[in-house]
Amino acid sequence: MDIRFDDKIAIVTGAASGIGLAIARQLAASGARVVLADLDAERTEIAARNVGHGARAVVADVTKPDQVAALVACAQSETGALHLMVNNAGIGGPITPLGAYPLDAWHKVIDVNLNGVFYGMRYAIPAITSAGGGAIVNISSILGTVGFAGAGAYVATKHALLGMTKTAALDHAADGIRVNAVGPGFIHTPLVDQGLDAEAQKTLAAQHALGRMGQPDEVASLVCYLLSDHASFITGSYHLVDGGYTAQ
Ligand code: NAI
Repeated sequence: MDIRFDDKIAIVTGAASGIGLAIARQLAASGARVVLADLDAERTEIAARNVGHGARAVVADVTKPDQVAALVACAQSETGALHLMVNNAGIGGPITPLGAYPLDAWHKVIDVNLNGVFYGMRYAIPAITSAGGGAIVNISSILGTVGFAGAGAYVATKHALLGMTKTAALDHAADGIRVNAVGPGFIHTPLVDQGLDAEAQKTLAAQHALGRMGQPDEVASLVCYLLSDHASFITGSYHLVDGGYTAQ
């Protein structure tokens, strides 16, 4: 299957690292011009150079609606249009039982993982509509469908994303916009690799039917498929790429 995004403009949030960077790379390799958004100017610039194909770095905090609006406006003014949006930026938050979960951490995780995705869709949808349609992928998790002890805030956001994805798909099908969510299993990125010691990673790997954690490119391939015209009849749905984690 030849997936091409020639003449398409894409935004990927949280694109300086991990899964977002892999998505940006695959989109660019398939012909898209990608606007990479992340918190830190230097890391985002380096990532954009690495992605190539005219990729552009923009510093944007997805918890700030004015910055997300400016990000979309920047993509439009630089390139004339926006067709594809990947709401990928996310954080894990502390691992603490819900009865003791710190309130500030709760609000922070909700702000990045849920409000950030809302702002991304809120500002991208009018732009994609005016470009004649396109597609959005929101990055949820296996923890969008099952719980994980100690990760109450993260699990809540990743479940909530699925409802928001379905609703956005219904609201904007007539505008020619497809909206889907992807649920990765545990993937080797700084989010996981820096947060868990080797023993914890071994235990997690064993919980996937394939006996290992995934790689960012294995998620990016599914995201690119869903963004492409090959997925023209797929909207409002949730797609796992989890090595069989949730099959058991
Ligand atoms: P990562 O930590 O490698 O990359 C996340 C990026 O998001 C970082 O570059 C970070 O600077 C950026 N970011 C954080 N807060 C931001 C904000 N407020 N505004 C803009 N950018 C922000 O993490 P990873 O693993 O690549 O995660 C990407 C997405 O995939 C997240 O939504 C995460 O929840 C999800 N995911 C990750 C899994 C994993 O095992 N790595 C499994 C399932 C889902």
